[in-house]
Amino acid sequence: MKKKILVTRWIFPEIIERLAASCVVDFHDQDTALPPEMLADRLADKDGAITFLTDRIDGTVLAHAKRLKVVSNVAVGYNNFDLAALTRAGVMATNTPDVLTETTADTVWALLLASARRVVAADKWVRAGNWKGWQFHDPWYGQDVHHATLGILGMGRIGRAVARRASGFAMRVLYHNRHRLPPESEAGAQWVAFDELLAQSDFLVVMIPYSPAVHHLIDAEALARMKPTAHLINVARGGIVDEAALIEALQHNRIAGAALDVFENEPHVDPRFFALENVVLTPHIGSSTRATRFAMASLAADNLLAALAGRRPPNLLNPEVLAS
Ligand code: DGY
Repeated sequence: MKKKILVTRWIFPEIIERLAASCVVDFHDQDTALPPEMLADRLADKDGAITFLTDRIDGTVLAHAKRLKVVSNVAVGYNNFDLAALTRAGVMATNTPDVLTETTADTVWALLLASARRVVAADKWVRAGNWKGWQFHDPWYGQDVHHATLGILGMGRIGRAVARRASGFAMRVLYHNRHRLPPESEAGAQWVAFDELLAQSDFLVVMIPYSPAVHHLIDAEALARMKPTAHLINVARGGIVDEAALIEALQHNRIAGAALDVFENEPHVDPRFFALENVVLTPHIGSSTRATRFAMASLAADNLLAALAGRRPPNLLNPEVLAS
């Protein structure tokens, strides 16, 4: 008998076709999240689900989903999963690493350069008809990226891809992870303690995965340790940065700028950001090229189909489930 699956949000038709060859697919074909009660309802008779970062899968949802064997997230981040609850319920959880590494590293650089050289504010100013003539000593001085110090908080796959790109800008690259990496995995970067990273970076890139342990890791105190000329770039998860503290720091020029692709309560963006010229805001587009989103969706399908066929999915997050 065909397994029943839920796809919680719009995904490419080619992927639906592939899933439908071996599964009965309940497809929410809108690009909006299902409300939590509806998600729980539609999961109740399913063997598997393709989920997205907007779907909270926790004990409450799992209590209604007794047949569920696998949830396959179309994202590398999986803070929308209560992994411990999934493991207790014997449900496999998977994600989509690697396929989005280079695209997300490109996004980091787009934001870093935009913040350093004030690209977005300058664009708005030109569009508003303010440009009256070229100036040598102009109000648009930016910050040099070349030969500056890049700090990477979280030297995982994406952090290393960001570091590799820095060699083209002749930058000094520092990183902080809880544990120092073996030298061959450091991508030419130097490990420093967290406080050193804050104090020395001209551009601080946040790349750690979100967990309650790192909630507001970048708080008022951390921001106060940064250089007044520094820029903060966050493409990881909003909750890592205390937005109220960041707004305060930007309002008082305690740091020079920030570029944010992620927010604490997406899609809500604190309106105080809108009044600031020294912040670049994008709507969680880190992995957003068609090719990469398609690769993520394909990998999520591979993970789901492997699990439903009784094989180990390539990106299993809780292998303990297989042992029990
Ligand atoms: C991820 O994969 O975790 C991104 O945030 C979504 O593109």
